[in-house]
Amino acid sequence: MTENQSSLSEIFDELNTEFSKTENLVRVVLSGRRRNMQTATDRVDIRPVRIKDELSVQVSFSDGRQMTTKNYAPGEYDFISALKSGFANILLEKLDGSISLRITKKGEPLVHRAQGNFEQDLSHDRSKNRLLDSADAFLKEVGISDASGSVKPSKQDKYRQVEEFLRILSPALTSAIEAGHIDKPSKEKPLTIVDLGCGHAYLTFAAHQYLWAEGIPVRVVGIDVRTSSRDRNNEIARKLNIEKTIEFRAEEISETTLDFADVAIALHACDTATDDAIAWAINCQAKLALIAPCCHHDIQAQMHEAPEPWSILTRNGIMKERLGDLITDALRMQILKLRGYRVEAIEFVGGEHTPRNLMIRAVRTGAPADSIEKKRYEEMLALWKVKPALASLING
Ligand SMILES: C[S@@+](CC[C@H](N)C(=O)[O-])C[C@H]1O[C@@H](n2cnc3c(N)ncnc32)[C@H](O)[C@@H]1O
Repeated sequence: MTENQSSLSEIFDELNTEFSKTENLVRVVLSGRRRNMQTATDRVDIRPVRIKDELSVQVSFSDGRQMTTKNYAPGEYDFISALKSGFANILLEKLDGSISLRITKKGEPLVHRAQGNFEQDLSHDRSKNRLLDSADAFLKEVGISDASGSVKPSKQDKYRQVEEFLRILSPALTSAIEAGHIDKPSKEKPLTIVDLGCGHAYLTFAAHQYLWAEGIPVRVVGIDVRTSSRDRNNEIARKLNIEKTIEFRAEEISETTLDFADVAIALHACDTATDDAIAWAINCQAKLALIAPCCHHDIQAQMHEAPEPWSILTRNGIMKERLGDLITDALRMQILKLRGYRVEAIEFVGGEHTPRNLMIRAVRTGAPADSIEKKRYEEMLALWKVKPALASLING
């Protein structure tokens, strides 16, 4: 193992040379973003594949929700441009070792080289399997699958939502761990997740089952104000024999005594319960937050007077409502940003109680926001004469 402080362009050249030896390559992952740089996708996964006896390079571009895959002839993919495009973490594995590069906030390269034996998987069509087997015992217990392990027709949407949630959670977690924002989970120090407003806990159980199946030690807590949810969910956990690593509590989000989790999720928690959940994440310094807001009333109820010329929208009830939703979520995101989170809005399929399909994905980097961001936030409040509920819930 060697650590080395070569210049960034020398390391890019070294990586590019290794990349060009397709027959030796195992996989490459580009993830995370360099300070003040914007990559076209969240993550790029590259591996050699064999198609009709010819070696190709398969490149998968992921935006955290959808993945697009393209095959290139060896030498065709512009890897050096990808390296320079703004990713902060680059991992290259080859048959006899690996090179990992992390580019710091100051733009300095931290390189780690290790020797080892890596195996190539050249199969072309690695099946786009479901992340969870529909026969998984938990899916039967929560009522998504029937006794034979098939998804019930009435629960297809829920199953799709569970899958989509895992497709968002999994790369977000991997990136946060690779970038050092979340410690690598171990048996002694498992990853901790809280689901705030967990309801029937489809997604809570899904996260637990999926991560254990992936070999990631995890402890999950589901919180919901309803005692009936707590009792039902704890009973399911007992039946599945997982009650040591998943637990449900009947508590108000704003009053829970839980004060730590690496990951906070809140999916379609009603109205300002979403604000309670974001406030919990900020106050308890959750490293990753995945928040899909539900119904919004807070800002809408305060939008008495639209700054002109916005009345051309707000004079229409449905448009005023949608604009109110967007302003609420934009202000929530801006508050997260001002508190040291890197924030994005991505698409997430709606739950059974809401057509809303926006998810806020926030990673705590601790980087201070530029002063212009505070100014923007304050100007937005002044322009619309509103005060977001979330602002009053945050400590300090
Ligand atoms: C629409 S359900 C969503 C359930 C689950 N997250 C899902 O996506 O399937 C919202 C849940 O949030 C719970 N809830 C609402 N406000 C809450 C609060 N202030 N504290 C705790 N739970 C709350 C409700 O009891 C309900 O179970």
